[in-house]
Amino acid sequence: MGLELVPSDEEGVAHLRADARHHCLALVAGRSGVLASGFTVADEDALAAAEHELERRGLGVRRLGAASARSRRVRSGIAFDDPFGNRLELVTQQESLARPVAFARASGITEFGHLCLDAPDVHEAYRFWSGTFNAKVSDWIGDAACLMRIDPVHHKLAVFKGDGPGLCHMNFQVASIDDVFRNWHFLVDHGVEIEMGPGRHPQSTAVFLYFLGPESFTYEYSFGVRRIEDDAAWRPRTFDPAEPGSIDLWLGPTSRPTTQPQARDEPAEAATPGTPSGDPAEVPAAALSR
Ligand SMILES: [Fe+2]
Repeated sequence: MGLELVPSDEEGVAHLRADARHHCLALVAGRSGVLASGFTVADEDALAAAEHELERRGLGVRRLGAASARSRRVRSGIAFDDPFGNRLELVTQQESLARPVAFARASGITEFGHLCLDAPDVHEAYRFWSGTFNAKVSDWIGDAACLMRIDPVHHKLAVFKGDGPGLCHMNFQVASIDDVFRNWHFLVDHGVEIEMGPGRHPQSTAVFLYFLGPESFTYEYSFGVRRIEDDAAWRPRTFDPAEPGSIDLWLGPTSRPTTQPQARDEPAEAATPGTPSGDPAEVPAAALSR
């Protein structure tokens, strides 16, 4: 992938960095499964307001303990499950590192791009994300996907239709279309399973490449994502996934990326560092900045 492995004395956790933040992806030793997906909120007041609002809506919310917050390099945070069973976290003040990112490989990564969660009904998922978090739909892919923005980027969050909760993929932006194709050759040369691409999504206009990591998690590189600067003028569009070109403008073969299922809480006595049971060290699979 090319991410920096951040030196750490925390056993069993690999913090991976793509931008100024301490990490945007943490891998925890243990069985496969998504532990949590995290978002940074503005400050402690925003976190408290979110905690109150989520509880008011009947969602079970708990505060991250000190060890969990330390592992995430955040000041504080809360955890809850969305209505579809995806474990989410909201955190404050994730640490930044002053030194430049020491990329493991010249993959051209410029920043974290987006997360894609699964839910059985993407329209219901949109009601949750728009009603609770003010996310805005940028485009629909029929009943298959809802692409949402929380800033000018066409989508920082997507929900794909899936049987159960899980993290469908995590996207990183690269600096040029050349990086996408160089990465493609690199991955093929190294025996990595390409899931889809290179191609171009008509919704975001991004040139994409989806591939499977050794832990069966799907990563995506992309370049050229659309920005929606005039929020009020944008009208979400709906694309039929069965129509040619609706997933890949270049008409390449398409397939649904493999989803990493949401991990279930383990009994406390079985807990190992980094598992979501109890206080010690619950680590976000991904942290998305506001
Ligand atoms: Fe994506």
